[in-house]
Amino acid sequence: MNRREFTRVAFLTGGAAATAAALPALAAEAPARRIRTGVIGCGSVSNSYLPSLTSCSFVEVVSLCDLKPDRARRQAARFKVAHHYPHIDAMLAGEPFEFLVDLTDMQQHEGINRRALEAGKHVWSEKPIANTLAAGQELLRRAQQKGLRLWGAPITVQSPQFAFMARQLAAGKLGRVAAAHADYGHEGPDWSAFFYEKLGGSMPDLAVYNLTSLTGLLGPAKHVTALCSIVTAERTVGDKGRIRVTEEDNAMVLLDHGQGVISHIQSGFNYFNPHGHDGSQETRHTLTLVGSTGFMGLVGYDWAPLGVDLATKDAPRLQRHATDAQGYVWQQGAALAAECLATGKELLVTPEHALHVLEIITAARESSAMGRRIALASTFRWPVVVGP
Ligand SMILES: NC(=O)c1ccc[n+]([C@@H]2O[C@H](COP(=O)([O-])OP(=O)(O)OC[C@H]3O[C@@H](n4cnc5c(N)ncnc54)[C@H](O)[C@@H]3O)[C@@H](O)[C@H]2O)c1
Repeated sequence: MNRREFTRVAFLTGGAAATAAALPALAAEAPARRIRTGVIGCGSVSNSYLPSLTSCSFVEVVSLCDLKPDRARRQAARFKVAHHYPHIDAMLAGEPFEFLVDLTDMQQHEGINRRALEAGKHVWSEKPIANTLAAGQELLRRAQQKGLRLWGAPITVQSPQFAFMARQLAAGKLGRVAAAHADYGHEGPDWSAFFYEKLGGSMPDLAVYNLTSLTGLLGPAKHVTALCSIVTAERTVGDKGRIRVTEEDNAMVLLDHGQGVISHIQSGFNYFNPHGHDGSQETRHTLTLVGSTGFMGLVGYDWAPLGVDLATKDAPRLQRHATDAQGYVWQQGAALAAECLATGKELLVTPEHALHVLEIITAARESSAMGRRIALASTFRWPVVVGP
């Protein structure tokens, strides 16, 4: 699927329709105030974020920015945003705002997020927040020192399907939990080279969702063992033509969650997938968990889940649960963060969790390169979902 087709499908399925579904939940309470918001990066994913942000009652999008000025200009006209800039310096010096939404190339996030925090802005970043755990932790420390908030995508832990699965585990429905598996892949984006360049790769783009879900369900990982490879050495992409692929496009990651629990996550840019980049029609189990008395399978992708199938020793026929999205859509993270800034209502998404997942990704690369198991240092607040 090319960029134009994806943008259209994302807008029709994930963007417009799903965002509209999310609106009642966001708009139900009268907003305390609207958060003046700047969005940097007006490429593909901005087509999913901007409908959500511009229709959120807690948000006023005041400026857009992109190094490709025509993109910022086009999105400003389409979404009726008053100001647009070709560089972050001009954006920070221009129309005042308090919340930056970073939708740029993966490699750019760390520097842009640092600039924004230094300028006193709260930040929502697409994944990853930074390029290394140490850099990400330093950003978080700076944010906390300055009384600012920093969050990162993805928001899979916010879905009702995640909550359902977490509650079944907490209630012991699976018995002694043993193992989990998750996978996410397609044939790879064809619009931008950064997905295939150093610090890009299938793990921060795709596995990041499954890593967030499985660590969210099973707890922080203690050790990582991984194999990563490059299957397609050269690609043709929209912004640079023929390029060499220099970051993994194929990854198998094993996580040790402690107490005998092991999970396996695979991701890649060489996976034939009849649903392409748009996974909203996926209906197979992409995430499964099994224990001594039960099995759970998430229907569809964890970023756009359709339900959870559960079978237990007491009720061994698979039964489908949690089929109502309750307004959840993957692209609403920045809007939820703005709601948090406006009302003080907290999210289940935490920067510590995003940084733990970032550490897993960098440790997986090290494990693959060195041929050994890597111990992890970071952790996050767990369980993520508490109570009924
Ligand atoms: N496209 C998707 O469906 C999708 C979905 C979920 C998450 N994401 C994530 O969103 C991010 C962006 O992906 P995309 O597909 O939109 O990429 P893209 O290439 O379509 O857009 C990125 C935009 O950022 C701009 N940019 C890069 N560096 C900049 C800088 N320093 N200052 C200002 N602008 C800059 C580029 O010019 C480009 O227009 C990535 O982290 C990606 O993993 C994308």
